Parts: sequence; C-alpha cells; structure tokens
Amino acid sequence: MRLTGHAPAWRLARMAGLVAIGAVVAAFLAGCGAVDTPQTMLFPRSDNNQAINDLYAPLTWLAVVIFIIVQGLLVYSIFRFRVRDDDDDSIPPQIHGNTRLEIVWTLAPSIVVVIMLILTYQTMAVIEADPPPDALRVRVVGHQWWWEVHYPDHDVVTANEIHIPIDRAVYFELESNDVIHSFWVPRLMGKRDLMPGSTNTIWFTPSEEGLYLGQCAEYCGTAHAQMRFHVVVESETAFNNWLERQREPAVEMTGDAAEGAALFVSRACVTCHTIRGTDAIGTIGPDLTHVARRSYIAGGILENTPGNVRNWIGDSQSLKPGNLMVLPVELSEEDIRLLTAYILALK
Ligand code: CUA
Repeated sequence: MRLTGHAPAWRLARMAGLVAIGAVVAAFLAGCGAVDTPQTMLFPRSDNNQAINDLYAPLTWLAVVIFIIVQGLLVYSIFRFRVRDDDDDSIPPQIHGNTRLEIVWTLAPSIVVVIMLILTYQTMAVIEADPPPDALRVRVVGHQWWWEVHYPDHDVVTANEIHIPIDRAVYFELESNDVIHSFWVPRLMGKRDLMPGSTNTIWFTPSEEGLYLGQCAEYCGTAHAQMRFHVVVESETAFNNWLERQREPAVEMTGDAAEGAALFVSRACVTCHTIRGTDAIGTIGPDLTHVARRSYIAGGILENTPGNVRNWIGDSQSLKPGNLMVLPVELSEEDIRLLTAYILALK
C-alpha cells in the first residue's frame, strides 16, 4: 500500500525503532560516565577490587569484539542474501556439512573459553589467597535486617558502620544469625554470602579514604533492600582513636539524657539492646553504646540526625516496614523526647 505524499509506514516504523535504540544506548552510556555513584563497581578503591576490575575489562572487550563479529556477519548476510525480486521463487544453494567451517566454529569458542578460564584463575589466585598476617580481623554477623560488627582482637562491638584503616588488609569473617545474607561494598570488594552455621571469609586492602556504601545483596526478607551499612576508610591514627573510644563504656548522662537513660532500662528497649556500662545487655538488636557517633542509623538507611532518631523511636515501622523493633506499649511524646536525648548523647 502506498500513502501518496507521506513516507511509507515501514520507513516511519524503522525510524521510530532507531530512535528507541538510540535512547536506550544513550541511557546506558550515561550510567557508565557517572564516576561518583556510591555503588559503582567500575572505580575500585581496594587492591582486590582492582584485581576483579582488571579481569572485568579484558572480558568485556573480548565480548565486544565477538559481538561485533557475530552481529556484523548477521547484518552482512541479511543484506547480501535478501530476496531482491518478489517474483523470484528460486532458493539459494543448499549446503549440507562443511568440515572446515565446523572445525572453525568449534575451535574458536573453545579458545575464547580457555582464555577466559586462564584470566579468571589468575585473578582468583590473587583474591582467594590468604590475607597478609598483619590483616585486621573483623567479624560481621548478619541479622534481619542489620549488621553486627566485632573486632575480636580489640574487644570492640558495634553495628552497621565498619571503620577500617587505609593501606592495611582487612580480613572479614562472615556469619549469619538467621537467614542467608550477602556482604557487599561495591567499591571495595565483590559479594560474599553470610551463611547460618558456617563462616565465610573475604579480605582486601582499601586504597582511598572515604565513606563507602554497603548493601545486603541476597534477598533475606521484608526489609532486605534497607539492610545497608557503611564502611569508613580512615587514617591509621583516626582509626586507632575510634577503636579507643569504642572500647569505653557509655558516658555519664545528665539532664534529659539521664532521664532517657532511666526510661531505656525500664522499658522494652533494654530487652534487645546493649549499652555497655548500664543494665542494658540485650543482644537481639544493635549495640548502642556509641550510637551517636555513627553517621547513619536504622541499618544504614537514615542519617543520624535528631529528627531521624526521634522519628525512628516514635514510629520505626513506617520508616523501615517489617523491622523487628516492635514496642509492646506505645511511647508517649515525652518518653520519645527523653529517649531521643539519651540516644543523641551516646557519643
Ligand atoms: Cu540481608 Cu538481604
């Protein structure tokens, strides 16, 4: 059919198709250009993540070359062998078997796979090797939906924010308290699962100071997407100061904070949380001894501001639906105010 004075329908359809493909490609390329996205893997900040990236790059280029060759042959064939004349009923010559071609298309992929295997084993030998003997040990226990963090050689327990010194290897021992979780700090290392009943390990040496976003990467229930954490890579001095501070019990409280402290141990809070130096020794929820010094609360999803702390104590379920902090009796506005003052004073 011909629409006089207009472009044929197939031409419009082809144009629309090309525009759509262009838009998708542009969107993907825009993603690649964003260096400072917090969860990118393309700009590694540790030795072992660099090793993974050094594998990722040649494999990607290998795939690009193969893609171009295969698609090029396909496009060439489409145009070279298309039917030119609708009235021509003849079919092209039919070929049955071509030994040389079959050897080529069996050997070529085999060679590619062997190259990938060699490169992969080389990288695995690096990242799966034993950590250096002076590596810092950190034990992480996954909970629905937060992270318990131990420094076994330094007698420190904290939650959801892991401090590590720059240029020193850190060796993580990963465990789970309930279901399978996955420990992932995209800029520092690949993923590793936390399995109930066994210990997995992973190590790397961070190469740049900063605050890095971590994320549970294995679906683990309602609040999986909000099971976040942060890794602070800092100078050795800053790290040692932090450790020193974390070892101390909670500071003495005065005023509203002292009233909040009394409320904390008389209400349900005490059954789940530990605040060292007080009667609160619960282990179901995060250790809160120095919670005011963390950058984020609620499993890494809320900035640690007075407003957020207040809202979290007042109604955590609306902020992180499904979380296990369920209070048997509702708190009064005054209780929430005093408890907030206490939490903010736990420096
Ligand atoms: Cu823990 Cu997903």
